[in-house]
Amino acid sequence: MDHREAGRYWNDNAEGWTQLSRAGHDTFRDWVNTPAFLELLPDVSGKHGLDIGCGEGHNTRILSECCAHVTALDYSEVFIRHARAHEVTEARGISHVHGNALELPFPENTFDFATAFMSLMEFPETEEALAEAYRVIKPGGFLQFSITHPCFNTTTRKNIRDEAGQVTAVQYGDYFAAANGEIETWTFSTATEEVRGDIPLFQVPDFRKTLSEWVNILVSVGFQIQAMREPYPTDAALAAHPSLQAGRIAPFFIHFRAGKP
Ligand SMILES: C[S@@+](CC[C@H](N)C(=O)[O-])C[C@H]1O[C@@H](n2cnc3c(N)ncnc32)[C@H](O)[C@@H]1O
Repeated sequence: MDHREAGRYWNDNAEGWTQLSRAGHDTFRDWVNTPAFLELLPDVSGKHGLDIGCGEGHNTRILSECCAHVTALDYSEVFIRHARAHEVTEARGISHVHGNALELPFPENTFDFATAFMSLMEFPETEEALAEAYRVIKPGGFLQFSITHPCFNTTTRKNIRDEAGQVTAVQYGDYFAAANGEIETWTFSTATEEVRGDIPLFQVPDFRKTLSEWVNILVSVGFQIQAMREPYPTDAALAAHPSLQAGRIAPFFIHFRAGKP
């Protein structure tokens, strides 16, 4: 499977994903991933950023409060339509572009920085996308992105629970198993059947790279790794959403910040 077919799955997921995430069901994004990502972000005030794979735009809108201007791009027409509609009702000066991370429609050295929240692992052509991000960032700028953790989020991840139902350990396997778009069918953990109604389960193509493959691609493209982070739920997040507890035992996500010299 290539990025075009994977992108079609994302476009099909977009309507339901937008509804459920806007209703607060993307708890790992809202309570774990995005807060940690923003803590890792350097001062970007006065800067022009690009958000690659923006989805319905929740994280772009938060980002727009930290910097001068954000351009947001996504492959899915449905997601971009929802992101634009939000901008119409609540303008933040965000420019939305329907486009492809592998062929960014911008000249080289356009942006002071770029972000990609949980999007760069959604297609197999990682090297092309990272090279494109590198091309459009100005020298001295950076790319910061989050992905599912290659080590701890394998297809066979299984939570081991104690008698009280608390996760005490996690079992993994298949770290080196290649994945070429096998479809994973799931929804957000709090989106019960009653909540979902007619919204179908998501169908998400799975692509995998090991941690060393991610690092080696970043380096081969020319990036210099500046920082990494493995976010976990804080006490406040756990109090609000006890179901996040497995994220305290082993991380679901990893964040990288990489600079263009
Ligand atoms: C897990 S969602 C994350 C959305 C958003 N960044 C967030 O954190 O809520 C992955 C996003 O990557 C987008 N995507 C997938 N392939 C893409 C591509 N080739 N170019 C740009 N965006 C892509 C999907 O359409 C989807 O919006």
